[in-house]
Amino acid sequence: MCGIVGYNGTMQAAPILLEGLEKLEYRGYDSSGLAIRDGAKDIEIVKAKGRLRVLAEKTDEGMALAGNCGIGHTRWATHGEPSETNAHPHVSEDRNVVGVHNGIIENYQELKEKLQRHDYTFYSETDTEIAIKLIDYYMKKYREGPVDSIARAMTRIRGSYALVVMFKDYPDEIYCARKDSPLIVGVTEDASFAASDVPAILKYTRNVYYIGNQQIARLGKGTAEFFDIDREAVEIEPSEIKWDAEAAEKGGFEHFMIKEIHEQPAAVRDTIGSLVQDGKIVYGESGLTDEIIRNTSEILIVACGSAYHVGLAAQYVFEGLARIPVRVELASEFRYRNPILNQNDLVVVISQSGETADSLAALRLAKESGIRTLGIINVVGSSIAREADHVFYTLAGPEIAVATTKAYSAQLIVAYALAIQYAYVRGQIDEDRYTAMIAEIQTLPAKMERVLDDKERIQWFAAKYSNAKDMFFIGRGIDYAISMEGSLKMKEISYVHSEAYAAGELKHGTISLVENGTLVVGVCTQNRLFEKTRSNMVEVKSRGAYLMGLTSYGNYSIEDTADFTVYVPKTDEYFMTSLAIIPLQLLGYYLSVARGLNVDKPRNLAKSVTVE
Ligand code: F6R
Repeated sequence: MCGIVGYNGTMQAAPILLEGLEKLEYRGYDSSGLAIRDGAKDIEIVKAKGRLRVLAEKTDEGMALAGNCGIGHTRWATHGEPSETNAHPHVSEDRNVVGVHNGIIENYQELKEKLQRHDYTFYSETDTEIAIKLIDYYMKKYREGPVDSIARAMTRIRGSYALVVMFKDYPDEIYCARKDSPLIVGVTEDASFAASDVPAILKYTRNVYYIGNQQIARLGKGTAEFFDIDREAVEIEPSEIKWDAEAAEKGGFEHFMIKEIHEQPAAVRDTIGSLVQDGKIVYGESGLTDEIIRNTSEILIVACGSAYHVGLAAQYVFEGLARIPVRVELASEFRYRNPILNQNDLVVVISQSGETADSLAALRLAKESGIRTLGIINVVGSSIAREADHVFYTLAGPEIAVATTKAYSAQLIVAYALAIQYAYVRGQIDEDRYTAMIAEIQTLPAKMERVLDDKERIQWFAAKYSNAKDMFFIGRGIDYAISMEGSLKMKEISYVHSEAYAAGELKHGTISLVENGTLVVGVCTQNRLFEKTRSNMVEVKSRGAYLMGLTSYGNYSIEDTADFTVYVPKTDEYFMTSLAIIPLQLLGYYLSVARGLNVDKPRNLAKSVTVE
């Protein structure tokens, strides 16, 4: 996820672009850059590592760059760590093509090799540079104009992209193209704008054109023309934006948390895209190999908070599928326990920020003991990402709400992929099962969207129980791991005292807390355990609990026990966490809203916990 702004008009472009980028900083903030042109003069490019402020200061708030046409970018790294070299805009060798990009090009390696065969060299680690040079390649090869060259590149690129590009020989034009990444166009009397999101251009216009998937736009000074991938002109009707500036920043949602809950299908889709190629799991640049997988004797998953809950769910998947022993450890405990580590262990550290002090210390402890480490990390170039021997990135983009949602969901995907790969390489599943499981993972984004479609029922339920004082989440197996995360969401944003309990443990103590009206959520997504958990639900009901059941479609007998039931689509039971967590995130969110709390910034909590 990155922020893009383009301007082509009569005013000075750089200050307008900086102002627009500032509104998009929530989309990325590890580096930024501007490319400005003044008529037919050479295009000037300035980039900076760090927050946008660094670029603003470097360019004297944009005043140091003269020209009324330009593009700007604020980056959230996916390929290549945050650095000035990797920052956008990127440029072809003779500065014929200059562009910025948001998205993930899945076949970047194949395209890079193709361009290398034609003597192209690369200065950065980004997939964007490859896209820009591919456009340049087609322009030179076929001697055609920008729309044709972009369209040819689009037919070769797999993955998602929003591209905004300038060409040396077309000084008064900006070109845009998109597939599965957002990009809008705004037009005023004497200017045109391109942006990843509405807030960047709201000051200038409320009429925006949503460029369709696989479409191209040519922006003049106050004009916009649109083309499809076959280079035929297409008409797009403008839409009027009715949100105020604050709502626009959150995509029309009331809070970042609910926006991020809705971004989960995309985060999961992008993460799957980076892990699966041609129906197989790929190691990418992680350095993991079949040999390492074969030689692993035990996996230790170390993390904090929600990332630890990903580990708990992953343990069932790894052990069930790959039959390899897995220990899941709280990083804050692990580091002080003098843990027993063996030479062939693999320590997996899961962290959104990549900076959590306890997780980082646990990683260092493992490394000092000579144990191989692997990070599942969202922030490219973060401390854990830099120090781990192997890294798999979650492609969730920046998470603004303190309570994690989309990063958690993306972490689960990496964990599933690793578990499937371990199972396959170690001969625990055959090729058919391997292929079927990968295919099933790819259905998750659409199924998550179906769960989100049902959110009004949970909103209603949350409003009804907004005065709840105590809550219990119960489940067995993977459902217990789901309960742990559901309960944490409830506590941290709604301030409702809540406990997650292994359903079979209730009668060993906790059930004495259940009284008339106590809210209990029974999670029953695992067929083998359905009847067992249901009888635990009956036990709490007979002591007066009010019961919410959470299961998959088809298990309608739960209605004999539960007072209110939420269903999610069926999937392989190992992947149920990805679907069942969404209603619980929504429950925590809507309860917090109903109680009038600060959802995005709950009291006493910070997004990145860099102290012990
Ligand atoms: C809960 C939450 C925290 C984090 C934990 C680890 O919603 O966000 O529990 O999961 O602080 O943070 P990272 O993943 O950055 O290491």
